[in-house]
Amino acid sequence: MNDQSAPVLRVTDLNVTYGTNHAVRHADLVVRRGERVAVVGESGSGKTSLAGAIAGFLDAGTVEVETLELDGSSIERTGPAGRIPVRTPGLSMIFQDAMSSLDPVWTIGSQLVAVLRATERVSKRRATADAIERLRAVGITDPDRVMGAEPHELSGGMRQRVMMAIALASKPALLIADEPTSALDASLAVGAMQLMVDLAEQEGTAVLVITHDIELCRRFTDFVVVMYQGEIVEQLPSSRLDGATHPYTRGLLECVPTLASARLDELPTLESVRARLEGTAA
Ligand SMILES: Nc1ncnc2c1ncn2[C@@H]1O[C@H](COP(=O)(O)OP(=O)(O)O)[C@@H](O)[C@H]1O
Ligand SMILES: [Mg+2]
Repeated sequence: MNDQSAPVLRVTDLNVTYGTNHAVRHADLVVRRGERVAVVGESGSGKTSLAGAIAGFLDAGTVEVETLELDGSSIERTGPAGRIPVRTPGLSMIFQDAMSSLDPVWTIGSQLVAVLRATERVSKRRATADAIERLRAVGITDPDRVMGAEPHELSGGMRQRVMMAIALASKPALLIADEPTSALDASLAVGAMQLMVDLAEQEGTAVLVITHDIELCRRFTDFVVVMYQGEIVEQLPSSRLDGATHPYTRGLLECVPTLASARLDELPTLESVRARLEGTAA
């Protein structure tokens, strides 16, 4: 059964607290098979906490969740976050900083081969050949050298490609990417995002991507989830972003420079959006 509309991820009433700080409040979320969903919202709105709670990658805080299902199977996450990330079959996560996704002392080849062999029972030789192909597929022109390199021997851009190759080598049902392009400048960010969605599509992997770049949402995702102060305040198809109704989403849209509002001093700031929302008019 490979129902296109079947949920890959189903979340109801997910909460993350850090002491008295209720960082994610009653979040409900569905990601369908092969779908690309963006989570947007300003810094501190709870995006990383939400993603980390789903992925099992929170290093602090307490998670409470009513339903958390990946591919129809329930995942247990309720309780204090552990320091050691939980490996969940079918789910991969990548981070803004590729260094934190890669093991610093293992070669790229051994990390990639290990993931491939943990996913499918293949010979080391076959996995090695597959690893080289996967490095080529992420645009690495000298895969033999990269196979033998440790992460610190690669440039930031190369590490990020490698990270994507490793994250997708396990053919996960869902890839969660927390601001995967925000360390890159705008022109590189578009290419990296394109690469990520292309690779995910090849593996049939759904993507939940956190970004604060609304243009990247428009271009690369099917659906947008907007967070504001710990709550999901709006969810809508990316193609209908212009029709967003929540004032915060409208504010985010207004913050995108367009040709018509290209003068920097005319752009609203997030502070002015917040002031308007809170009725303290800037
Ligand atoms: N490890 C932590 N310990 C305590 N508070 C945290 C921790 N991580 C995040 N928070 C708090 O949770 C809230 C949401 O943060 P975060 O999930 O990182 O938001 P975002 O990713 O949207 O910037 C913020 O108030 C932040 O200060
Ligand atoms: Mg974050």
